Order: sequence, then structure tokens, then C-alpha cells
Amino acid sequence: MGSSLFAAVSLAALVTASFDTNLNYHSPSRRHEGLGIDVPKVAKRSLVKRATPWDPSQLNFTHGVASGDPYPHSVILWTRIAPSLVNDGSNVTVSGNVPFYSHETEKYIKASPNPICVEYRVGTDGNFSTVVDKGTAYTTSDIDFTVKVEAKKLAPFKTYYYQFNVCGSNNKSPTGRTKTSPDHDDAVSKISLAVFSCSNYPMGYFNAYGNAARKDKVDFFVHLGDYIYEYSKGKIGKDQRAASPEKEIFSLYDYRTRLGQYRSDLDLRLAHQNFAWIPTWDDHEVANNVYRDGTSGMNNTEASFKKFGGISVDSRKMNAVRAYFEWMPIRQVDMDDNLRIWRSFKMGKLFDLIMLDTRNYDRSITTLDWNDDYIEKLKDDAGRSLMGSLQENWFYRQLSKSKERGAAWRIVGNQIIFSRMNNSAVYTNPLNADQWDGYTANRNRTLHHLYSNEISNTAFLAGDSHANWVSDLVWLDETPYDQVTGAGAIGVEFAGTAVTSTGYGAGRSIANSSDRSAGLVRDNRELQWAEGYYRGYYELHISPEELNARYYGSPSVAFRNPFEVSLANFTVKAGANHLQRNVANGSVESGALQRGKTVPTNLTLNTQTGTWNVTGFNQITKGGLEKHLKINDATPVPTITDNEILVQVHAMGLNPVDHKVTEGPMPLRLIGTNLTPGADFCGKVAKIGKNVNEFKVDEWVFGAKIGSLKDGTLAQYVAVPKQMVSSLPEGVKVEDAAGVGIVGLTAIQATKPNVKSGDSVFINGGSGGTGAIGIQIAKALGCNVTTTCSTPNVELCKSLGADEVIDYKKEDVVQALTSKGPTYSLIIDNIGSPPNLYKASSSFILPHGKFVQVGMTLSLGGLTQTGRNMLFPHILGGGKNSYQMIITKASVDDLGQLGLFMKEGKVKGVVDSVWEFEDAPKAFEKLKTGRAKGKVVVKVRQDEK
Ligand SMILES: *[C@@H]1O[C@H](CO)[C@@H](O)[C@H](O)[C@H]1NC(C)=O
Ligand SMILES: *[C@@H]1O[C@H](CO)[C@@H](O)[C@H](O)[C@H]1NC(C)=O
Ligand SMILES: *[C@@H]1O[C@H](CO)[C@@H](O)[C@H](O)[C@H]1NC(C)=O
Ligand SMILES: *[C@@H]1O[C@H](CO)[C@@H](O)[C@H](O)[C@H]1NC(C)=O
Ligand SMILES: *[C@@H]1O[C@H](CO)[C@@H](O)[C@H](O)[C@H]1NC(C)=O
Repeated sequence: MGSSLFAAVSLAALVTASFDTNLNYHSPSRRHEGLGIDVPKVAKRSLVKRATPWDPSQLNFTHGVASGDPYPHSVILWTRIAPSLVNDGSNVTVSGNVPFYSHETEKYIKASPNPICVEYRVGTDGNFSTVVDKGTAYTTSDIDFTVKVEAKKLAPFKTYYYQFNVCGSNNKSPTGRTKTSPDHDDAVSKISLAVFSCSNYPMGYFNAYGNAARKDKVDFFVHLGDYIYEYSKGKIGKDQRAASPEKEIFSLYDYRTRLGQYRSDLDLRLAHQNFAWIPTWDDHEVANNVYRDGTSGMNNTEASFKKFGGISVDSRKMNAVRAYFEWMPIRQVDMDDNLRIWRSFKMGKLFDLIMLDTRNYDRSITTLDWNDDYIEKLKDDAGRSLMGSLQENWFYRQLSKSKERGAAWRIVGNQIIFSRMNNSAVYTNPLNADQWDGYTANRNRTLHHLYSNEISNTAFLAGDSHANWVSDLVWLDETPYDQVTGAGAIGVEFAGTAVTSTGYGAGRSIANSSDRSAGLVRDNRELQWAEGYYRGYYELHISPEELNARYYGSPSVAFRNPFEVSLANFTVKAGANHLQRNVANGSVESGALQRGKTVPTNLTLNTQTGTWNVTGFNQITKGGLEKHLKINDATPVPTITDNEILVQVHAMGLNPVDHKVTEGPMPLRLIGTNLTPGADFCGKVAKIGKNVNEFKVDEWVFGAKIGSLKDGTLAQYVAVPKQMVSSLPEGVKVEDAAGVGIVGLTAIQATKPNVKSGDSVFINGGSGGTGAIGIQIAKALGCNVTTTCSTPNVELCKSLGADEVIDYKKEDVVQALTSKGPTYSLIIDNIGSPPNLYKASSSFILPHGKFVQVGMTLSLGGLTQTGRNMLFPHILGGGKNSYQMIITKASVDDLGQLGLFMKEGKVKGVVDSVWEFEDAPKAFEKLKTGRAKGKVVVKVRQDEK
């Protein structure tokens, strides 16, 4: 009896110890009655008799691993081990004091009172041949199954590897890599940081994280906030990067789910897995323009409380904070202060990294959309603080202590732009009072502290603004400052662009965006470089002698890619307290440089050589091509080469490729944003090149300009190679001919070489552009035609000459065809659906029949299916017949044949609708509905001479 009692007591002790190992049970503060978790109660719950332990095979490491907040002898390790990817649905915490909050009443905890046990180990190599620290920790739904432990017994400034596994099993997490900081008094020759901000998941792909991780040039990753965004955006299932949950976030469950979604991004996950992070938050980790007592959307009032269904500013903030602490690999440096994230890191004698919270902690009121005039009046108020006095005094003391201890540099990880910034050139409000410009007394106190204590070598970092800004740190109107030499400054500021969020360069060309930057540089003499086009990040390479900042841009965040452009490099010499002249060596890639040049080289680095595949991209555009189309009345008339014809366009037809080019995987930068879409045209010859004998000026022509992505036909004049033009036969209407180019060529090239008169042809998709003309061409060639379409289009297909129409809304297409037995000499698939059409076709195609795929679709599903058909026509479930993917080619003969067919009345243009030039964006909208019957045609305005 004595021994069994002993055993029970020791089990309980063991359990409690392991709960304590997981720091998230203390999160955000164990000592806070309302927010802390009653660990003994959670432990006790797990001892109930009916609890069955987890089977390790039921559990997954759902979100990889992460590490952060490096100290000389320890670092934080993070993972999540859970029975499902879904986040815990609970909105409450376990506290022993308030019965209403008791978790024991909640069904999902009753379902599994048992904690999950994980072991972790830390080694000096990835094989763990030497394990320097290990331990055991528990997690439960109370903390969303997250695990946060402190790896100890580590040596300073050393790389380590770590891994978690489910206790006593082989279910292992990925192996993570991390690094400790140097010891406080160590002389270190170099430390490098990659600095990020503003990663908005629905706005694009996190290429910046992936690029920096793959290049592997820095020791630590620093995030200045807006790591997540609280907004709703997109539709799940439709938009690949729609926000989850599909709404603005308020509850604990919401914030956990949002963080979990972001952490599913592969580039972000890679960055966490391979680097120790030092993050702080900005506003969007809670909500837009959050301050001490509210956000731009929520007030600390009863009206606001009611409007949001009983959610107060404070409870929303604590939900956000709690989820953040659960999910981020950071330390809690003050257990008595559940909002405190401001903290500092001593990086040997090289620098102190001081991380601020200018948002949540104790910030005086900011601009909230409805109070901008008031804030304008308040901005110089001496009582205002960005940090609250506790943090502010701590900040100044950190700066002084850092100098006293002889650290070479002070790096301030702050959210918002510190320098005075006259934004008139790019925004309507000259000053952004949500930045330090709205808290000038706080800024003066900071500058006063630096100047009066002669604290040198300070660099402010900033994010938040979605653009790049590099400045000398100056106290304007107080200390003389020489813009040319930099004399009079007390340090520097490096503000960086967003990982994905858009700034003042959004939707503009590089050149236009750089023009706007030039206005900023003109209006702010301490601002040395401004840049607004690129999304990206910057690296800081810090040595006792100098500090180097290297800025990088991603050419496109519309899809996942490893491309990167070097934008600008800066040096700060120790003791100089300003940017080294010539600033940026006198030249930058983009944006505007004070007294320097902008030289776009377009030199692009592939951060992943060889093996990287573009998978999983989707069209993320800022609203689609049609949102950005503008008539430019100052476009020069194109010049033509000897083999070209200048066509005065009277009408043109749209094709899906026209917008897919810009919304698809092609980096826009490579095409240029000043592009004119369009390939099909009908118009008059305005001018001919020297070698053009086939056409005369003023003759009517039609055709398709193939292979040009930039200078398309949605214009009054277009230059077209002569082999892409054909005479318009008399009697054919301009609007009918305007849309036949691409689809006509495609259909003729798919059909003519493969059939003879009397053959049977099956055309899958008969009512779209290629189908409608394809039916007519097959009939003109004497074939018997079967086609498919949906109910409303059956009559159209019949009127075009189809002998048989299968209504796919009513009949199973494959079944209907199979029942006929081998019938068809040719199958033309215009739509790629049903996906098994090719495989099934062997039962209704003749032995030597052909299957032709028209490859207009850019959807990922379509691409993989056609890819598989091409690669595996026979084995692995492919079909048996010859498979061909049509890529439309220019051909004078085929155009001539089309003209002839039109003249004979055998083929007529099928026009869905005709739009005025000014309404081209609406025409694109119509095309993109996918419901156009035939072609969408735009009439091109002809100005009076
Ligand atoms: C765990 O991961 C495996 C492999 O990725 C997957 O098949 C399984 O469905 C996952 N289980 C859960 C509960 O998510
Ligand atoms: C958590 O709170 C949200 C928002 O108030 C609510 O919709 C949800 O049902 C709550 N979940 C639980 C498990 O109570
Ligand atoms: C917050 O207060 C402002 C000023 O009174 C008001 O315009 C706004 O509608 C309020 N918002 C909410 C959510 O109550
Ligand atoms: C900040 O310092 C400048 C320069 O001395 C001064 O003109 C300005 O009035 C100060 N503002 C506040 C709010 O202290
Ligand atoms: C920045 O420096 C790197 C490394 O020296 C160099 O490759 C790159 O071209 C520089 N970029 C610019 C814009 O000067």
C-alpha cells in the first residue's frame, strides 16, 4: 500500500514538472488571474481514470518548427503537435477562480483530458551525435497544442540543431536550426540580420522570407511587425490565399487560426525552421492602428462593444496577444506584465538590439480615420507618448547602458518611421501622424537623449510603411545638418518595404513609382533614398568598423518564386553617425537617391538554383487587369520594320490569354506595366514596310498578332508582322472578323491536318470562342460534328451546324460517347473537362484517330492534367491514342483559308457583345465571367484627324 501511494504522488509531480517546461502554460502571464492557466488544474484533469493516452500515430507536427529570442546560453524552441490541423475552438482560459471559465465543462477538453507528451533534443549537428540539451514537455488544447521550451546549456554564438518527437515514439518533427547570441562581453567581428515587416498573406507570396532563408547570409531574422493581418479577404476554396477564418478576426480561436494559416506558408515555415527570430508586433497583430485604448475600427465605448457583439477592445487585444505568445518563438521577459514585448538583446560588444512596442503597450491616441483633424492638433502635445513612460524610460536607459558597456552599435527595432517625413508627393496627408510624426515630443525626448548623452552609432529600423526609406537621423530645427556631408546627424534610419503589403508604388510601373520617390527625396532633405515599387526586405551586416545595409526586392509576389533584385547598398562608418558619402555609391536600382542616379539593370538573382519548381501559384492581382486599364491619349504611333504593317485598328476581339498574361505566373516586371493587351484585330492598312508587297495602304485587313505580350491590338494603331495579316474579304463585317484571328487559327490548325471529308469529329466545348468557330470549320471541311455545351447554348451550337449536341448539364459526356463505340477520327478538347476525357477516349476514338488539346487554360488543375496526358499517354493511366497539344502559330495560308470560308459564308464570326473603346475594362469583366457566347469585341475609337 505504501508503495502504490508513493507511485501516485511521483506521477503527479512528474506531470506538473513537464507542464512547466512548456512556457505557453505561463502565457501571457501566469500570475494574471484572468489570463493565466491554472496548471495544477490542467494536470489534475489529465489524471482522471477514463483518460486514454494519445496514440502517437494520431498526432502530427502541424506547423513545422521555429526558434527565437537567442541568449548566449539558451534559445526558445517552438512546435505544435496536435490531433488535427484545426485550431482549438476554445475562447476561454483555465482559471481556478471563476467557475464560468472552468475548462472542465467544455466538451472538447472532456473529449481528451490527456496531455500530449513531446521530447526535444538539441545537438551540435543535424544527426544529433552530440546532444547538449533535452527535455520533456506537455501540451493540450488549452494552449492550442503549441509547445514552447527554452533550450539551455548552450554555448554562445553557436549554431545548433533541434528536433521534437512524440514521447517514446518515432513520430518526429522536422529538424530545426538555430543560433545563440554572443556572450555579453565577447568581441564579435560580424553579425548579420535580415529585417522584415508587413507580411499580408492574401496580398501575395512570401518570397522575401524564402529568398533570405535560401541565401543563408545572416545570423538572425528580425520582424518589425504586421506579421499577420486581421482583415477578411477572399473566398476560401476560390482564392488560393484567402484569409482564414474567412472574416475579420476577434476571438482567441480567430487569432490562433490566422496565425496557423500564415505558418502554413512554405517560405515562412522555411525561414522559421532555419533561423532564430527576434520579432516584435505592429498594429495588425491586433487590429489596424491599435493604441492603448482602441483601434481604428473599435472604441472603448459601450456603443462599440454592442456593435461587435460583446467584444471589448481589451478582450480582443488579449485574444491577439495570447495567440501571439502561443505561436511566436519569443520569451516573456516580465511575468508581471502580460502586454510586455519590448525587450533587448546584447549581441556581444558589437551591438544592443532594442526591440520596442510603439503600438499596444501604452500608446497615446493615434489617427483612427474619424479623428485626423484632432490628432493634427495633438501631435506636438508634450503629454503624448508612443511607448508609455515605463517603456520610454527603459528605452532611454537601454541606450545609455549600451554606450556605457562599450557596445559598438545600438540597433533599435521599432515599428513606424522615426524621421520627419513630408509625404505630400505621394499621399494627401503631408504628415503621417500614425508614425513618430504624430508624437513629436516623444521624438524630441529621444533625440535629446541621444544628443545630450553623445550616444553615437544608433540605427533606427522601421517597417509599417510598405516602402523603403533611408535617412540620416537628425533633429531638424534644433541641430544644424548638412545634407551633402551628413554632418550634424546622430545616427541613421533604415526603414524597409513590406514582404507583400502594397505601398505608394502599387499598380504603377517601376519608372512611375521612382518618379514619385523623387518627390519624396526632394521634399525631405534628410531622406537619402526612397523606393516604393518593390516588396522585399533588407539585410544588416554589422561589424565594429561599419554597418552595411543591403536592400532586396521581389520582382513579383503574385506567385511563389525565387527571384530577387538588389535594390541599393548603404554603409555607415563607426563614429560617423550618418550614411557614408557617396550615399549608396551614387547609384541605386530603383526609387530615388539624393544626389545620385537610378539605374535599372533588372539583374535578377535566382536564390534557388536549378531545382525550384513553380507550383501552387494562383492569380493574385490587385483586382485584375481590367482595374488598371487606362486609355493613354499620348501613346506614340508605333514605328514599323521592313516586314511589318501598321494597322489602324477598327475593332478587336479579346482572348483569355490577354489578361492571363498579366494575372498569371509571368513576373510583371519582365513584361513592363505599360502593356497594351490584345492579339486579334480588324482594321485598315495605314502604312507598309519596305518588304511588304502583299497589301496596299487603306486596304481592309484582319488577323492576329501572336506572341507579343506588350504592344497588343487594344490600340488605335498596331504594328503587325505581315505573315499575321490577311485581306478582309468583301461583305464580311468588321466586328465579325475582329475576333476570329486566334480562335480561327487555333481551330483550323487543330482540325484541317487531321481530317478528311466524311470523318466524324468530336469537339468538347462548342460554345466558347474556339469551339464556336471550330464547329463551323469542321463542317466546312465536310465533317460530321458532335459537340458539348450547357443547356442555354444548345441552340447556338446547333445553329452553327453541329450534327449532335451533348448537353453536359443533363448527360454524362463520357458515357454518351462511349455508348457509340469507336466513331471519331478526331477529338478536340477546348475545355479540359471532364479530366478523364483523354483516358476514356480510347473507347470512342477510331484506331488511328487523334486527340488534340487546346491549351488555353492557365488553371493549375488544368495544367497538371494536360501535363500528365503529355508525359504519360499510355502508361500510368493515360489514353492510347496520339495526343497533341495545339500551340497556335502564325500562318498566312490559314488566315487566307479563314477569309475564304468567311467570304463563302461557311464561317461567320460569333460575337457575344460589342463594346466601346472606353468600356474595354467592362469587356474584360464580361470575358472573365466565362459565360460569353462567342467573342467579346471592342470597337476602337477613331479620332477625327
Ligand atoms: C498527419 O499527417 C499525415 C501525413 O502528412 C496525414 O496523412 C494525416 O492525415 C495527418 N493527420 C492528421 C490528424 O492531421
Ligand atoms: C469563440 O468566440 C467566437 C466569437 O465570439 C464565437 O463565434 C465562437 O463560437 C466561440 N467559440 C466557442 C467554442 O465558444
Ligand atoms: C468610434 O467613435 C467615433 C467617434 O465618435 C465614431 O465615429 C465611430 O463610429 C465609433 N466606432 C464604433 C465602432 O463605435
Ligand atoms: C521638437 O524640437 C523642435 C526643435 O527644437 C522644436 O521646434 C519643436 O517645437 C519640438 N516639439 C516638441 C513637441 O517638443
Ligand atoms: C550591392 O552589393 C552587392 C554585393 O557587393 C552587389 O552584388 C550589388 O550589385 C550591389 N547592389 C547595388 C544596387 O549596388
